[in-house]
Amino acid sequence: MGFNEDAAIWDSDLRLKRGKAISEEIKSYIKVKGDYKALEFGCGTGIISFNLYDSFHHIDLIDTSEGMIEVLNSKIKQRNINNMRGICGEINKDIILEDKYDVIYTSMALHHVEDIYEVLKSLTKVLRKNGVLCIVDLDEEDGKFHKDHHGFNGHNGFNQEKLKNILCELGLKDIESRTFYYDEKVVEGEKVNYALFSMIGKKIL
Ligand SMILES: C[S@@+](CC[C@H](N)C(=O)[O-])C[C@H]1O[C@@H](n2cnc3c(N)ncnc32)[C@H](O)[C@@H]1O
Repeated sequence: MGFNEDAAIWDSDLRLKRGKAISEEIKSYIKVKGDYKALEFGCGTGIISFNLYDSFHHIDLIDTSEGMIEVLNSKIKQRNINNMRGICGEINKDIILEDKYDVIYTSMALHHVEDIYEVLKSLTKVLRKNGVLCIVDLDEEDGKFHKDHHGFNGHNGFNQEKLKNILCELGLKDIESRTFYYDEKVVEGEKVNYALFSMIGKKIL
């Protein structure tokens, strides 16, 4: 199944629980102010941002999956939230970001992106001066995490040091990271342990 088909059943207990921990981690890393404008990259159904929207003035949420954005938009409408906006499309192809953001965060999406350098470059470009990029993703693993995801051509997690070097090349400063979440999931009958890291970098200029 792809993300469009998965969208209707995406909000499982496991993902909601993990999403809560990820949101707490993002909040603990970034000093959020109420007038901040944020962008979530690869938002899915918005699990993370629904835990964060009342800390921000506004959040734009982007994702390439129409199914995910449809579910997100219906949740925004149902909950009567007026500071979240879902946008469907590929950054730099369908979506040209014109605004600047104080905070950009992404959770579990980057490992699905082939050319992470180009995406991170585009995200860095739309960060405001002193804005912060926060990446939450899978620590490097042996490929078991996506064993049941046929046609997966992303990354088997990330090596934190290599990813830090990319942020550094893009000019971000004060880069820090830590592994903060350990869990397991069952993939094709096998128990798979995995860990998530968070990484932040600041745009000084
Ligand atoms: C594993 S899901 C994570 C969803 C959500 N962030 C969460 O934590 O529940 C990965 C998401 O990234 C999206 N995605 C993959 N490639 C993308 C790209 N190039 N641009 C934007 N979104 C992308 C997928 O459509 C999917 O919704």
